[in-house]
Amino acid sequence: MVRPVSPGFVLWVGWVGLVWTATGPPFRDWNLPKAHLERSWGHRDACWGHEPDCSQSMGLDEIQCQPEYSHFHKRPAKSVFDDQSGFGYLRKMRSSVRPLCRSAGHPASSNLNCSDQLTFCQGRNLMIDFRPIMDIGRTLRYDMDVLKEGGIHGRCTLNRLFLQEHSNLMSPLQSWAPEVRYFQTDKVFFNGTDSRMCDVYVERPTILMKLDATVNMYHHFCDFFNLYLSLHLNGSDRMSPEAFSTDINILIWENIDYHSSFRPTFQAFTQHPLLDLRSFGAQRVCFRKLMLPALPRLIFGLYYNTPIIQGCRNSALFRAFSEFILHRLRIPERVETDSRQLRVTLLSRLTKHRRIINQEQLVAALNRETGYHVEVAYFTHKNPFEQQLRTIHSTDILIGLHGAGLTHMFFLPPWATVFELYNCEDAGCYQDLTHLCGLNYITWTNRTALFPQSEDPNLDSEHKGQPKFNNYAFDPLEFVRKVNEAGQLMIRKSVMLSLNPGKCLASTLSPKIDPVQEKLLEERCILVDENDRKIGSDSKRNCHTLDDRGQSPLHRAFSLFIFNENNEILMQQRSDDKITFPGLWTNTCCSHPLAVPEEQDVSNEAIGVRRAAQRRVLSELGILPEHCPIEKMVYLTRILYSAPSQCGQWGENELDYILFLKAKTLKFEPNPNEVKEVMFMKANQLDDFIQDRPNLTPWFALLARSFLPKWWAGVETIEQFKDHTSIHKFPSKS
Ligand SMILES: *[C@@H]1O[C@H](CO)[C@@H](O)[C@H](O)[C@H]1NC(C)=O
Ligand SMILES: *[C@@H]1O[C@H](CO)[C@@H](O)[C@H](O)[C@H]1NC(C)=O
Ligand SMILES: *[C@@H]1O[C@H](CO)[C@@H](O)[C@H](O)[C@H]1NC(C)=O
Ligand SMILES: *[C@@H]1O[C@H](CO)[C@@H](O)[C@H](O)[C@H]1NC(C)=O
Repeated sequence: MVRPVSPGFVLWVGWVGLVWTATGPPFRDWNLPKAHLERSWGHRDACWGHEPDCSQSMGLDEIQCQPEYSHFHKRPAKSVFDDQSGFGYLRKMRSSVRPLCRSAGHPASSNLNCSDQLTFCQGRNLMIDFRPIMDIGRTLRYDMDVLKEGGIHGRCTLNRLFLQEHSNLMSPLQSWAPEVRYFQTDKVFFNGTDSRMCDVYVERPTILMKLDATVNMYHHFCDFFNLYLSLHLNGSDRMSPEAFSTDINILIWENIDYHSSFRPTFQAFTQHPLLDLRSFGAQRVCFRKLMLPALPRLIFGLYYNTPIIQGCRNSALFRAFSEFILHRLRIPERVETDSRQLRVTLLSRLTKHRRIINQEQLVAALNRETGYHVEVAYFTHKNPFEQQLRTIHSTDILIGLHGAGLTHMFFLPPWATVFELYNCEDAGCYQDLTHLCGLNYITWTNRTALFPQSEDPNLDSEHKGQPKFNNYAFDPLEFVRKVNEAGQLMIRKSVMLSLNPGKCLASTLSPKIDPVQEKLLEERCILVDENDRKIGSDSKRNCHTLDDRGQSPLHRAFSLFIFNENNEILMQQRSDDKITFPGLWTNTCCSHPLAVPEEQDVSNEAIGVRRAAQRRVLSELGILPEHCPIEKMVYLTRILYSAPSQCGQWGENELDYILFLKAKTLKFEPNPNEVKEVMFMKANQLDDFIQDRPNLTPWFALLARSFLPKWWAGVETIEQFKDHTSIHKFPSKS
């Protein structure tokens, strides 16, 4: 979730690294631990979530689980998800790190600490003998015998049992066992003092990396992701600004040149040139500080085939990684959606298989719709990676066929939707990644509107008949429908994030306004000034239409909360046909008094507004006037509130009367044109409700976080909260 920068931040500039760049203003490195946390969480005591002393409420947890999946084997689903994919994963890993080779306490002696199965190690004063490596004539990649007996040395006490018991994961991209098994202990010092043991002495902390496939974004980002999380395990003080320092070496465990169009990503980690197995020649190199980071293909690791439980999404670790890369590579930050159009990026694959045959036709169909800005992206080495990130980070809807290019989703803004055009019958992979990243996801489901090209005759038998080795055409009508669906999801998410969703696509997204709702637009609402003085009237349509400045005229409204005998609030989910805020959950009934004499009268405890409420409760929920008596409705106070809806063509700018009603008898029959679903909510469910349900109306979300808890607690003596003089002003963005 995007959170505002807390204004108090300037006071904490001391924590933020300032680097002067030749071309621009100083670069503030928000990624230094304290700064990142403070910025994304808003308070100084925040922690990541993997530290032993970090409680859930202090951590970065942003996990959302659907209520129906709230538990898994009696454990809260959130904590299962966190252990699988969030900072909880790091907590487990961190807690298993222990000395494999223990130092004698002397500052010049060595040590090596490792996690279970030697998936991560960190140590100091260690020597690697590169002499035999130079003699190996062949290419070293995914190799398990780069080091031989005595290839790595230290002066410390080796825990042989630990080494033995944790050396069975003999796989190059899962464990450091293939290297560490050759650990040899000696009596000499390896801190550079003894020239008999060290030909070269490296003071700068060094990270060794065994890489996955560097041409494939999905795989190569498994490397970067695990590198990032390893920095969190850096044994030093977690809040030390140096924990994420770029003054480090990265040594790639290969003896061939590193090539990858994703190379710029390394700049997020190191300011120095990349090293490899040949960099030191045939020498014995002593490292002051050495890290063997978490590896890219661990089973149940991150994020290669991460298991994730159903119904949960949004790992704070994934979000932190995304922010880390974007910020370190200085991709301009985006905190708002575009003001006019939804930006669609269609990934075009230049490969032999899995191409979109009628891509031009699809793009043309989308361009005929209003409200979309479509860009076809050819992400090749000719298009620098930083440029690709800029494009992606300003994308609202990312479309692509199943393929590694979808890994770009890491860098979408948090409200974006991923549309995997066709998953080629590999349903889990990118859908899971989308859920880890906390984004919306849709994919093609209509088989009759999908046209596989008859297969490539030259295809070998092994690949024949495999959906991934085919090309596809898509029905343009269905394509546009799906993009509209993606747009709807994106807009709802941006409302949930309280962002300005920009200009409306109502004409695109709901081409036909529901006739009943259309009719209601002709009703006249009461225009007022900020002091609630009536200044005129206008149609409901005009009252909710944004002008060029994104403003709609201020008008009078009400927000009614009906409580039952048990003090539960009757909540409604607005129908999908509503023009403003369709499908969102909100309090019992929200609407407008009309510009007619009976409803304009605000004397006598706003009698006119209460009459309007009675009228609407009947038409929306079928609650009879005798069950909603005007004299029992309590007018509490007024709030001023504005928010755009649906991409900003329609919006709210209301002076809202808050009404409470404690109902004796409550019978209702919701009108499906207005209300999709209803439920009763208990006071102690409020927190979970606003946490778990992304689809809340912005005014309900605001009230739920401000006045509502207090009012609710005192609902039996609600009169005490009456305040008919103030008009509380809510910002349009939280
Ligand atoms: C290595 O340790 C010895 C003994 O503590 C110390 O005298 C020497 O300065 C250290 N060398 C380096 C390069 O730190
Ligand atoms: C390894 O762990 C020991 C104690 O468990 C600690 O004193 C030492 O600093 C750690 N070494 C590194 C390099 O983190
Ligand atoms: C880990 O933290 C230390 C500060 O204690 C820092 O010097 C070092 O650069 C960090 N990174 C690595 C890879 O050791
Ligand atoms: C699938 O697409 C076809 C062609 O556009 C359309 O006629 C049909 O209604 C769609 N089916 C479903 C279930 O949406």
